[in-house]
Amino acid sequence: MNKMKIISTEALTELISHHSLERFLRDLIDKLKEDFSRWQEFNKIPRPAMHVSGGVLELMPICDKDYYTFKYVNCHPKNPEINLMTVVATGQLSRVDTGYPIMFSEMTILTALRTAAATAIATDLMARKNSSILSIIGTGAQSEFLTKAICLVREIKEVRYFDIDDKAMDKFNTNLKDSPFKLVRCADAKEAVLGADIITTCTACKAHVDVIKNDWVKPGVHINAIGGDTVGKTELEFSILSRSKIVVEYFDQCVIEGEIQRFNKEEAKDKVYAELHELITGTKSGRDGDDEITIYDAVGIALEDYSILLLVKELSERYNIGQELNLTPPLNNPKNLISMLI
Ligand SMILES: NC(=O)c1ccc[n+]([C@@H]2O[C@H](COP(=O)([O-])OP(=O)(O)OC[C@H]3O[C@@H](n4cnc5c(N)ncnc54)[C@H](O)[C@@H]3O)[C@@H](O)[C@H]2O)c1
Repeated sequence: MNKMKIISTEALTELISHHSLERFLRDLIDKLKEDFSRWQEFNKIPRPAMHVSGGVLELMPICDKDYYTFKYVNCHPKNPEINLMTVVATGQLSRVDTGYPIMFSEMTILTALRTAAATAIATDLMARKNSSILSIIGTGAQSEFLTKAICLVREIKEVRYFDIDDKAMDKFNTNLKDSPFKLVRCADAKEAVLGADIITTCTACKAHVDVIKNDWVKPGVHINAIGGDTVGKTELEFSILSRSKIVVEYFDQCVIEGEIQRFNKEEAKDKVYAELHELITGTKSGRDGDDEITIYDAVGIALEDYSILLLVKELSERYNIGQELNLTPPLNNPKNLISMLI
């Protein structure tokens, strides 16, 4: 009675190996498009963030008429120095009608998957159709997910990559060496970016860093700015923004956390061309001409977590994966809570 499904990291790994990673990403892309298309049906708020020494702790709630979800996520860029991940997350799905929680899940892998799938959607809507060279700056935990998802929407022939950490580049190369594209290890970010059609930045540093310089960005390029996602943490040289068409997921959150935090709010309103849902529904076009520079200024929003939790719920039922546990009291008489203890 009212048992909750627990999706551990092991259960999620099993679920994705049953379904296949590529099929999961494709289904997730469809689910995200479906949910972004009903943007107005969601009750949304910019996520509350607590800034602590060395990082940030965030809570990401959202609901529609049927389900409420939230994710707890952090970002501690120095964690790898003590052999811990920079970003970890857990999340919950509840029924709206009774408020009862029904699923609790690992969300570290789910965060990487939903970020990659949303980035693929933005890339598909904004990058030139003939884009074939992808540049990845920052080859940490998110990087292979982003690369695989972008390859689902464009015929990528070459991936140029750079990280300040040689070992992170070794890992990226090992994980992707059997891919159908050519892998080019670069000596610096400039080499990785020059000549690329799509640039994806996913570095972690809690500061305003010019990971990409304005001079390196040529007309026609699409940029996915993924790593700048909290107050005081951005990746693009500021002057790139004024030359570019900028699309965000959710303006009210992005103006606090995204690359556009470097404008004041009024300037940002003028500068931002659209929210992603407007491109998905076709209300606005992603790219007008081959010379436009486009930026997807992503910070990650609760709707993306909602979509992936609902997809995991459906697949966990299909494959009978996950453990059922009582995390709410299984009572015959709902007023007799003390009976659990006496
Ligand atoms: N927008 C979103 O939805 C979203 C989702 C998940 C993570 N993120 C952000 O993406 C970033 C990457 O996350 P991760 O889990 O891969 O972290 P990670 O620590 O595993 O990887 C980050 C990598 O960036 C490298 N790096 C740092 N500064 C660099 C620079 N100037 N040039 C090149 N490389 C540099 C580091 O050496 C590291 O290998 C984080 O900032 C995280 O907050 C955003």
